[in-house]
Amino acid sequence: MNAVLDRAALARCQATTLRAESCALVLLGTGGVGGAFLKLLSTPAANALRLVGVADSKRQLVAATGLSRDGLSERLAVQGVQRDNSALLAALDAAAAPIKVVIDATANIDLAAQHPEWLAHGIHVVTANKALAGGNLAGWQTLQAVRTPDSEYGDTATVGAGLPVLFMVRRLRACGDGLLGLQGVFSGSLSWLFNQYDGSRPFSERLHEARRLGYTEPDPRLDLSGEDVARKLLILARTAGWALDRDSIQVENLVPGPLRTLQRAAFLARAEQLDAPLARRQAQAQTHGAVLRYLACADGPCRARVGLVEVPASHPAAHLQGSDNLFMLRTQRYSRQPLVIQGPGAGPEVTAQALLGDVLALS
Ligand SMILES: NC(=O)c1ccc[n+]([C@@H]2O[C@H](COP(=O)([O-])OP(=O)(O)OC[C@H]3O[C@@H](n4cnc5c(N)ncnc54)[C@H](OP(=O)(O)O)[C@@H]3O)[C@@H](O)[C@H]2O)c1
Repeated sequence: MNAVLDRAALARCQATTLRAESCALVLLGTGGVGGAFLKLLSTPAANALRLVGVADSKRQLVAATGLSRDGLSERLAVQGVQRDNSALLAALDAAAAPIKVVIDATANIDLAAQHPEWLAHGIHVVTANKALAGGNLAGWQTLQAVRTPDSEYGDTATVGAGLPVLFMVRRLRACGDGLLGLQGVFSGSLSWLFNQYDGSRPFSERLHEARRLGYTEPDPRLDLSGEDVARKLLILARTAGWALDRDSIQVENLVPGPLRTLQRAAFLARAEQLDAPLARRQAQAQTHGAVLRYLACADGPCRARVGLVEVPASHPAAHLQGSDNLFMLRTQRYSRQPLVIQGPGAGPEVTAQALLGDVLALS
C-alpha cells in the first residue's frame, strides 16, 4: 500500500516538475501590479511557472534556472544588476521551456513598442500596459499582424483590470454579434472621485483623499486628463472590430489649461483651482436631479467621446460603488437592453490576477 502511495506521490511530483518546465516568465515592473503579481507567484496557482527574470526601471535579476521567490523585491533592490532587456530575453531562451512569456506590468511606452518584436520571436506577451494597443491605430494594426497562436497577446488587464470585458467582446464578435455602441465608466479613480463628490466638500479635497488612498496615479492629472479612459475605449472598440483612432475621440480634460504644464508638486498645491468649475457643474446637475459621471461613449467607429456627463438617478452609472467600472455593450443581439459588466475596475490584486489568468490560459 505504501509503495503504491509512494509511486502515486512520485508521479504527482514528476507531473509537477514537468509542468514547472513548461512555462518560463520574465516580469517587467514591480510596482503596485508587478508586486502583487510576485505575491501570486508564491501561491499554488502558479506552481507551473518558472520566473527567470524580473526588472524595474533601473535593475534586474536573471536566472534561467529560475529565481527563488523569497524576498524577490528586496533582492532586486540590493542585488539587482543594470537593466538590459537582451539578458532577460536570453534567459527566456536558455530556460528551454515550450512557453515563453514576457509580462509587462509597467506603463512604459518604449517597452510597449517592443511587444510586436517579442511576439514575432515566438514570445507570448501578457500586459497591463495600454500604451501600444491603446496608442495610435498603426501600432494596434502591427500588433494584430504579429499575433499568432504561438505568440499570444494577453491583454485582459488593460481594460477593466480583472473584469472579463475584452473576453466578452471577443466572444460576441466570434459569434457574429456586431457592436452597435458602448458606454460606461472605465476609470477606477474617476469612478471613485465622482461617486464621492456631491458638492458638500471641494473637489480638490476629494482628490487629495483619493491620492492618499492610492486610488489615483501619483500625478492625478494622468487620470483627470481623460487620456487613460480614451486608451481603454480605443482598445475596447478596436477589439470589437472598429478601426477607431485617437483623433476620433473627443476627450474632456478636467485639468484647467494653466495647471497642465506645472511640476507635479506645484499642480497639487494649486489643485483647488479645479473646485469652482466642477462645483458649478455639480450644482447644475443637482438642479436637474442628476449626478456627474466621467463617461466613455461610442456610437460607431467615427463618433466617440470621453468626458463629464450629467446622468439621471435611473442610470446604472449613478449607482456605482467605490472604484467600480461599468461597461454597457449594445450589440445587434443585445439591442434593447445592453449587456452590462460591472465591478472593481482597478486595484493591484485583481489586475495581477488578470495577468496570471492570461499566463495560465497559455498553457
Ligand atoms: N494599479 C492598477 O489598479 C491598475 C489597473 C489596471 C492596469 N494598470 C496598469 O498596470 C501598469 C502598472 O501599474 P502600477 O499601478 O503597478 O504602476 P506603478 O506602481 O507605477 O509601477 C510601475 C512599475 O514599472 C516599472 N518600470 C517602469 N519602466 C520600466 C522599464 N523600462 N523596465 C522595467 N520596469 C519598468 C517601475 O519601476 P521603478 O519603480 O524603478 O520606476 C515600477 O516598478 C500600468 O500600465 C497601469 O496603467 C494598473
